[in-house]
Amino acid sequence: MAAVSVFPSQSELGAALARLVAEAAAEAVASSGRFTLGLSGGSMVPLLARELPPALRAVPGSDPSRWLVAFCDERLVPPEHPESTGGAYRAQLLSQFDAPPQVLWVRSELGPAEAARDYEEQLRKAFPGQAPPRFDALLLGVGPDGHTASLFPGHALLQEQDSLVSFLEDSPKPPPQRVTMTLPLLNAAQSLLVVAMGASKAPVIKRILQQQQQQQQQELPPAPAARLRPRSGRLRWLLDREAAAELSGDPGKGP
Ligand code: 6PG
Repeated sequence: MAAVSVFPSQSELGAALARLVAEAAAEAVASSGRFTLGLSGGSMVPLLARELPPALRAVPGSDPSRWLVAFCDERLVPPEHPESTGGAYRAQLLSQFDAPPQVLWVRSELGPAEAARDYEEQLRKAFPGQAPPRFDALLLGVGPDGHTASLFPGHALLQEQDSLVSFLEDSPKPPPQRVTMTLPLLNAAQSLLVVAMGASKAPVIKRILQQQQQQQQQELPPAPAARLRPRSGRLRWLLDREAAAELSGDPGKGP
């Protein structure tokens, strides 16, 4: 059963998310010498850019220079394009670090199929002996249609069980050409932290959490984000009050 935390505001959610990342980083760096983190685009970029640097200053040993950062998905546009997730993190977050992390960049200039193949090769090399790679933490968002990363409802990519990374050229959310981690890679993670904020997400969050609860009895749920089920890791939903508005009862307060 996934943990669901609801926060009164986006800034309180962001601060809690940043603290979870900083604490996971300190633990991973202390135990294995590095912290491996996957990031998503959209509203997560400014949220982390604002909240992560102060959280890292507050948590000893969370040292971003010891991190390996990758992207749960990436739009296939040039890095300087305003829609580039990597470009946005480079400008808004990574630029704040005196000693930046190692980053696995999606090479958008290669085109969809080659960029996906190249990214998978980068990942396999970065996680020697791990098949599939087990990220310490993957941070994901959810779209109003239930997509996560660039895995969209009804898309053939949801069936992918072999590749760690794949591509699409028909994303319903622009830009259309993207590279994305697949469910086998996402569900291999030690920790999945899924963020949803705003009233537009309330209906889909209700649907997803219901589908996740029913999943034991029925075939795979339609919403891609409802298919997030870490094989041996932890799944945690971080919602602001607006996104949790349609959940019944007391879905849990912030940590
Ligand atoms: C992307 C994403 C995507 C995003 C969701 C939620 O690059 O578009 O990684 O999966 O996380 O669409 O985006 P918002 O949080 O901005 O609504």
